[in-house]
Amino acid sequence: MQDKIREVHRLREAIAKMDHAYWVLNHPIASDDDYDIAMNRLVALEAQYPQLQDDLSPTMRNGGAVAKGFATVAHQRAMLSLDNAFGQEELTAFLRRLQEKCPAGFAIVCEPKLDGLAISLWYENGRLVKALTRGDGQFGEDITANAKTIRQIPFTLLGTEVPEHIEVRGEVFMRQEDFDQLNAAIEKQGGKCFANPRNAAAGSLRQYDSRVTSQRKLSFYAYAAYVPENTAWPDSHTASLQQLQVLGVPVNPEYACVTALAEVQQYITHIANQRSQLAYGIDGVVLKVNDVSLQQQLGFTARAPRWAVAYKFPAEIAVAQVLGIDAQVGRTGVITPVANLKPVAVGGVVVQHVTLHNYAELARKDVRVGDWVQVRRAGDVIPEIVRVDQVLSVQRQQKPDVPTQCPSCQRELIADQDQTSIRCPGGHACRAQLVDAVWHFASRKAVFIEGMGPSVIALLIDGGWVKNVADLYDVTQSMVQGLPRMGAKSASNLVNSIEKAKQRPWHRVLYGLGIREVGSKTAQILAKHYPTWQQLAAADQEALARIDHIGPVMAQFIHGFFQEDKHIRLLQRLADYGVIAAEQPVVTQGVLTGKRYVITGKFAQSRNEIKALLEALGAEVNDSISKTTSALIVGEKAGSKVAKAEKLGIPCIGVDALDNLLNQR
Ligand code: IVH
Repeated sequence: MQDKIREVHRLREAIAKMDHAYWVLNHPIASDDDYDIAMNRLVALEAQYPQLQDDLSPTMRNGGAVAKGFATVAHQRAMLSLDNAFGQEELTAFLRRLQEKCPAGFAIVCEPKLDGLAISLWYENGRLVKALTRGDGQFGEDITANAKTIRQIPFTLLGTEVPEHIEVRGEVFMRQEDFDQLNAAIEKQGGKCFANPRNAAAGSLRQYDSRVTSQRKLSFYAYAAYVPENTAWPDSHTASLQQLQVLGVPVNPEYACVTALAEVQQYITHIANQRSQLAYGIDGVVLKVNDVSLQQQLGFTARAPRWAVAYKFPAEIAVAQVLGIDAQVGRTGVITPVANLKPVAVGGVVVQHVTLHNYAELARKDVRVGDWVQVRRAGDVIPEIVRVDQVLSVQRQQKPDVPTQCPSCQRELIADQDQTSIRCPGGHACRAQLVDAVWHFASRKAVFIEGMGPSVIALLIDGGWVKNVADLYDVTQSMVQGLPRMGAKSASNLVNSIEKAKQRPWHRVLYGLGIREVGSKTAQILAKHYPTWQQLAAADQEALARIDHIGPVMAQFIHGFFQEDKHIRLLQRLADYGVIAAEQPVVTQGVLTGKRYVITGKFAQSRNEIKALLEALGAEVNDSISKTTSALIVGEKAGSKVAKAEKLGIPCIGVDALDNLLNQR
């Protein structure tokens, strides 16, 4: 047995070195065959001797854990953001401020600003024990199972000088090539592509099923490390990056340490020129003071360090010709002008349709068919038309007409209450609105009927089968099979998805109903206050308006919705189909029923755990303090909520009192 244990350790160490050489150094030291032989042997040994299994064995890279959600974990130190500097002036202002504070001079480290998402990795005795997303900066989500599938993240640190505790921070991102391959595969399966590599990286890292993450090719570069006080660690940023590399952690090699403004500018120009050739997306350059004691001296604002800044590249602009201006009818009947462009690549995606939001904006920007327009897209921001290019747009056509009739149902359009928009009054009698309303109901955030896209919905509506969202549950295999381009297999898949969509929680059905102003967050709040549709339908407008986050206008829309008989009939049908509960649930009575708490600060447990414990005793837990809050539960490093509670005369209770509260039965 001893020799088997030794062999397992030897194999793990050898594979870790091969992984490091391949994934981190980009310099393989073994052939694929040798690697496979070692891996297969290790897999076989672990299968034969289950007592030798280890969570951090290199055999554990493919995921497996399927989570129901991510636990919230307090960061060891806040994960701050960076202040941005747009343009030359803001950049020099930042450097001038540093100059004033450090007249003796300082070195600056320039690094590409990777366009991904920040994570924090905790290593204890050289072993990876936790991976968290940034979250709100104070609390992150535990995505350890997913991070473990990223081959560039070492399971165990290398070398002889491994600190007992070390936190490594860096960026998870997706290389352009891996992003293109992923989208090509998604497209082939008829799925919805990711808009950009950053969304793809974030979406992949936040999968509940770690096996899905393991199939996405994510990358990682570290850009910071923290060790406890009195632990040996370099006192400059560059030396810290080098030390991380010694430990086997990947660091972006593109950094440079400079001492003069001119050099900073040279670096920015150099990286900007290289941008299109880089294997990954970047959206700027991060500048950091190199000397750690100087960093400490400069300190932090509430949001960001004073010793660093993110210089952002200007948003990319492309020029494209307007082929047409369409009037689009939205779910609520609002008519939106949309410019149809000759497809153009900008900011990493191909843009073809650009919304002009409303006819006032169309008039202000004076966009006409045939014009050449400048299109801008920065990061995640939806593309926008900046202006008409006056030089290219010669021989301009007439200004486009503002429609007076609905392009879908030809009804006379009316001006909306806010006077900036025009609206079709047809409601669900207007085909375009009905298609959009049903699509919204079937969408991912609502009841999610996989495969129920706008074209199928339009066909079902045109066939006379679907007149409202409840009709979806009457759709049968034979109806669907008769539709154009629909085989027997897809038809049965769709019918199965409809059946599955009966299991969604009440708040998602509520969101799907498309009540004006009710987004998915509001739907969750409402569903919590009114656990059944009957309770919500019976709520009066004032009671609705008293709920946190729900204003008087929203309350009016919600209340108004339930005053219509057709809506009540619709909900009754949904209840008959089992989509929502038909009966009023038995409210669980606990010792804390009727109490309302707000939690602030850090605790040994996560806030979600505390919330669940309080709720199990019948209490309600809210995000913000109001006059009806029973008490504020205060952990360490609590923020502004304490002052607000004091102002409203609401008692604050600490950790001990919380324990007493939770232990009463
Ligand atoms: S340092 C306190 N370095 O940019 C300093 N951040 O806008 C923490 N980012 O949340 C960040 N590349 O996700 C740093 N080389 C780099 C970076 C980088 C990308 C991201 C990171 C951070 C965000 C701030």
